[in-house]
Parts: sequence; structure tokens; C-alpha cells
Amino acid sequence: MSETFEPRNIIVTGGCGFIGSNFVHHVVREHPGVHVTVLDKLTYAGNPENIAGLPEDRVELVVGDVCDAELLDRIVPGHDAIVHYAAESHNDNSIADPEPFVQTNVVGTYRLLEACRKYDVRYHHVSTDEVYGDLALDDPARFTEETPYRPSSPYSSTKASSDMLVRAWARTYGLRATISNCSNNYGPYQHVEKFIPRQITNVIDGVRPKLYGDGRNVRDWIHTEDHSSAVWAVLTRGRIGETYLIGADGERDNITVLRAILRLMGRPEDDFDWVRDRPGHDRRYAIDSSKLRRELGWAPRHTDFEGGLEATIAWYHEHEPWWRPAKEATEAKYAAQGQ
Ligand code: NAD
Ligand code: DAU
Repeated sequence: MSETFEPRNIIVTGGCGFIGSNFVHHVVREHPGVHVTVLDKLTYAGNPENIAGLPEDRVELVVGDVCDAELLDRIVPGHDAIVHYAAESHNDNSIADPEPFVQTNVVGTYRLLEACRKYDVRYHHVSTDEVYGDLALDDPARFTEETPYRPSSPYSSTKASSDMLVRAWARTYGLRATISNCSNNYGPYQHVEKFIPRQITNVIDGVRPKLYGDGRNVRDWIHTEDHSSAVWAVLTRGRIGETYLIGADGERDNITVLRAILRLMGRPEDDFDWVRDRPGHDRRYAIDSSKLRRELGWAPRHTDFEGGLEATIAWYHEHEPWWRPAKEATEAKYAAQGQ
């Protein structure tokens, strides 16, 4: 096991988004000596409410773009690590308009790598299992760190590109970098465009949930809190230049997840609409996280998926003022796409 890195002053990009804000809460709660500077552009997916109420002496928000090299020159010096979550993150949006994905996910990562090189700052890159493409439903295999890259969508190809930049900067310039590739997250603060919050808020609104294709596509669900603890483990104890896959053995097909939501919300299990499939829709993701568990001793704590889903449903019931402003426009966009 490598030496423990003890960051004191970190930048979290995308810290007003879903997973980034959950990570900021995690750091504030679990690591009292650490100050967090959140760098976030506040796109449609970023909401400062996600980190409101955290102690001001622990968390500072800088509103800005990761592609802005001058801004990075101003804020990066003095920090000892960057944890890079900021991204355009939604596959359906990337199919409708790939441009912001190339800009933020590829160019933004490049700018951060250059800033880390210039100021000798450690870098952790938050990526996705989608870089590995998909698996067949009947394939016993799961993704490992050795699986070849084979991204399918504009979103996943820009994430794969950004991973490649990180690997090159680590090898060529000796940048102190690590990468993690995680499976599908669920939990509080997830935008209503994503599968689980979209269906929960549809049911709250009395609208039938929407299932793509044949509903048999499999995602490997992990609670976002477990993703946060894994990223912290890799940042502080991971080996420089290495990739770690993060997953919690949560494979389920979409129709099973949807039926669980309907059941937990007191609706009949067939009370949903079949809608147009996503072009190029990946069939199945599955993560083998044994390297992370073996090397860093990490294990997920939220292993009861239905319990986690129930808590997430309760969170959306209790936080309607948080999601309501985004709901109408999100559904209008889906309706225009036949979804
Ligand atoms: P999200 O869309 O909820 O949040 C993205 C955040 O990044 C927002 O706060 C947004 O304002 C900010 N942002 C976007 N462009 C920016 C820019 N140019 N400069 C600064 N900030 C910018 O995304 P998420 O679901 O929380 O995903 C976060 C990261 O985790 C992404 O890198 C994503 O690829 C990765 N990831 C997500 C999942 C998942 O299930 N959602 C799984 C594995 C990995
Ligand atoms: O695997 C990690 C990835 O998980 C992350 O890299 C992405 O940022 C994140 O958005 C997520 O990607 P997916 O495309 O898997 O997530 P999404 O929530 O969009 O969809 C999950 C599954 O549900 C997928 O098979 C498509 C399906 N779906 C989605 C929506 C929005 C539906 O059937 N109906 C829907 O309304």
C-alpha cells in the first residue's frame, strides 16, 4: 500500500452538482481538517442550494468555468489537490447536442491538468464505467481496470477522452494523478432528468413513468455516499497513475428498478409507459471492484438497494421546492424527443 496523502485544502469541481455536492457533504462530515473550494459554473445541473448551510469556514464557492485558464491561475495555487467532478453528465443531452460535452469534458479536463502541472497539485479524476462500452445480458464478464475502452455515446466518448488525457499527463509529465470509474449513482440531489428521480417525480406529479426500449438494460447501482467514500480512499491512499473501478454489486434491469419505485410509492407495477429507445443505448454495465476492495480496503455501506430507494423517494417528497423548478422544462425536452 502506498503512503497516505493528507490533503488540507482541496478544490472540488462540479461541487454544486449531484455527486460532487454529496462528496462535499461527505468531506465536511468525515474529514474535519479539510477546507473545500467548490469550482462550479452553475449550469442547468448545478445548484448552490446543494451545499447551502455547510460551514462557511470549511466550504467556499467560486462560480466559474473549468475551461477558464486565467481563473485557474488565480485559484489553484495554495491548494494541494483537485478532485474533478465537473462535467456535462447526461447521455440523452449529449445525443441532442454534443458540443458542450466536448468543451467541458475534454477541454475542461485539459485545462485542469495543465494547472495541476504548473502548480504541482495532485489530481483525482472522477470518471464513469461507460468508457468501457457495454456487455451482453448473458455475458458472465464484468468490467475491470484492464477492459479495453469502447465508449458508445458522445457523453461516454468525451469521458473516455478525458481519461486518456489524464493517463498521458501522468506518464509524460509525472503528474500525481489517479482515476476512478464508477457505475450508476443514486441518492439525494440528483437532477430530475436522470432515470430514478425522473420516475419518482413523475409519480409524485401523477404522470406515468417512462421506460426506454424493452426495459431490460442493466445498470449497476451504487449509493452516491459509497461513491464518495471510495473517491476519498483513492485520493488519499490510491497509487499514483492508477485507475480504480468503483461499484457495489448492484446490477438490476431498468424495469425491475421502475417496478420497485412504483411498488414503494403505492402504484400498480404496470402503471408506466413504454417510450422510444435511446439511440445506441448501452445494454449492460457491471463493475468488478475487487482492486479497490483489495488494495484500499474499501467496502460499500449502502448495500440494501430497496432501502436506499425508499430513502431517496422520501427525499424527493421532502424536497419538492428543490426539484420543482427544473421539472417542467426537463419533461418538455423529453416530450419533444418522444421520450
Ligand atoms: P451533474 O450533471 O449532476 O453535475 C455536474 C456539475 O458540474 C454541475 O454542478 C455543473 O454546474 C458543473 N459544471 C458543468 N460544466 C462545468 C464547467 N464547464 N465548469 C465548471 N463546472 C461545470 O453530474 P453528476 O451526475 O453529479 O456527475 C459528476 C461526475 O461524476 C461527472 O464527471 C460524471 O461523468 C461522473 N459520474 C457520474 C455518474 C452518475 O451516475 N451520475 C457515475 C459515474 C461517474
Ligand atoms: O454508468 C455511469 C453513468 O450513469 C454516468 O456516467 C452518467 O453520468 C449517468 O447519467 C448515468 O448514465 P445512464 O445513461 O446509465 O443514466 P440515466 O439515468 O440517463 O439512465 C439509466 C437507465 O434508464 C438507462 O438504461 C436509460 C434508462 N431510462 C432513462 C430515463 C431518463 C429510461 O428507461 N427512462 C428514462 O426516462
